[in-house]
Amino acid sequence: MRPLFIAGNWKMNPSTEADAVALAEAVKEGVGQDHAVRVAVCPPSVFLHRIDTALANSPVGLGGQNMHPEPSGAYTGELSGAMLNDVGCTHVILGHSERRHGLGETDAFINQKLHAALKAGLIPIVCIGETLDEREGDRTEAVVAEQLDGSLAGLEPDQMAGVVLAYEPVWAIGTGKTASPEQAQDVHAFIRARLADRFGEAIAARVVIQYGGSVKPDNAADLLIRPDIDGALVGGASLKAADFLGIIEAARTVTQAGKA
Ligand code: 13P
Repeated sequence: MRPLFIAGNWKMNPSTEADAVALAEAVKEGVGQDHAVRVAVCPPSVFLHRIDTALANSPVGLGGQNMHPEPSGAYTGELSGAMLNDVGCTHVILGHSERRHGLGETDAFINQKLHAALKAGLIPIVCIGETLDEREGDRTEAVVAEQLDGSLAGLEPDQMAGVVLAYEPVWAIGTGKTASPEQAQDVHAFIRARLADRFGEAIAARVVIQYGGSVKPDNAADLLIRPDIDGALVGGASLKAADFLGIIEAARTVTQAGKA
């Protein structure tokens, strides 16, 4: 019902186009023509066009890491959804915590981007997640609920079904500290219940909710086997083809074992 979806967020890596293309080609080769697991890579925007070419005839999707809500105009340094589309993107990451916390992005701004991404025909991957302080203050559900309500404002149910969510606890990103499968499952179940309240059970059951935060080949299966964890948004481990392919392999094994 919800094929597992593994996406690589390369962030501001690697430094050269040659390395980016080599990584994309290794992912392409490792995935082959296998469609059992959805896979996408999200490289830095300057490499997107070249990587779209490298990924020709591959089921591996291509995503941007951010976009601006306006379709064009005087927005120095920004990219529009149409531009991402034009260079071959199928997906776009929105509201990553490194943009929320490092660059001050608000739920309202992310919501504008979300509407613009859908208008541009891109599949948005909307990121949410609490900081360590918020978790320790027992505010995880309140924070996630607020981010969901704000980021998803104004969406119609049929639009929601096409949005991917990524639950990324900020304290687990790049720290080597993964949320335990139970901790992650609890929040994913909470997210799905909130979606059900707002959009109905049938739509909530279709929404893909990825987990992100120190996902590696050796912890992926334990996360992906949980009922409401539908994939992974992978940072560091997506920069090594062998590790990223190892996570995809874990997803394949979980799928073959009967999930999804
Ligand atoms: P790491 O996998 O490096 O913890 O990063 C997760 C992330 O931020 C993906 O968007």
